[in-house]
Amino acid sequence: MQRVAGEVFLSMDFAIQSACQPDGLHVGIIMDGNGRWAARRGLPRQAGHRAGARAVRTVVEAARRAGIGTLTLYAFSADNWARPEAEVAALMTLFRRALGKEAEHCAEQHIRLEVIGRRDRIARPLLLEIERAEERTAAGCRMLLRLAVDYSSRAALEAATRPVEFGSAEFGERLRRAVNARTAVETVDLVIRTGGEQRLSDFLLWEAAYAELFFTPRMWPDFEGEDLLAALRWFEARTRRFGGLEDRATASLVDS
Ligand code: IPE
Ligand code: IPE
Ligand code: MG
Repeated sequence: MQRVAGEVFLSMDFAIQSACQPDGLHVGIIMDGNGRWAARRGLPRQAGHRAGARAVRTVVEAARRAGIGTLTLYAFSADNWARPEAEVAALMTLFRRALGKEAEHCAEQHIRLEVIGRRDRIARPLLLEIERAEERTAAGCRMLLRLAVDYSSRAALEAATRPVEFGSAEFGERLRRAVNARTAVETVDLVIRTGGEQRLSDFLLWEAAYAELFFTPRMWPDFEGEDLLAALRWFEARTRRFGGLEDRATASLVDS
């Protein structure tokens, strides 16, 4: 369960009363491999993205059950605009439909949903769906689910380090505003990447300073709750030293 902090963010962009601060493990997932999953089946890439959206529901459910505090899912990078127009359009439609459907489910499960990333390039219907989903789930305290859309960690870092623009706010606070996040989340403990590549692709670069990195060849649509638990077990066996000499282990999340 998350601790209730009753923190009030009095920023220019958001004046939001955050019901609770995320407490517990922060896991980020680079959900890669939809296209290759589809190609292997002789299907169009869009079919891979649809299968990927189904996998999201399963993994969110498993993360909630495992007691993860924050789950950040990388859904669309700022660089993904470079893809063919039809694929981008299909992805945006998928996000809009999925948000509409999942907001209710998240609210019932006390999951707070936030979308991080740029908003000025998002079409109005999706923007409205994002805002609706965030409002609908704002009271959720069981888990914070962040969906990164039009997200670039580099761009966020550049924006957050620009002088004066945000007055004397702390760096973490500037970064929060730079990605339009309502809730401040400054470190990620575990980054999982499906699809076999071993890179971060502009995801949580600052937050991942001491993150454990878990790469799996499994394509995202095939990633299931049990795979998440396997990654968590692997994480628990890591020795985390943060530059020191002692192992600062995390609390056990899953039965081994
Ligand atoms: C990840 O799957 C989804 C997005 C980046 C939107 P990809 O579409 O990158 O799938 P691959 O890497 O081509 O298989
Ligand atoms: C990273 O995947 C972005 C998301 C999963 C949303 P990409 O497929 O865009 O990454 P690269 O191009 O292989 O680095
Ligand atoms: Mg990819």
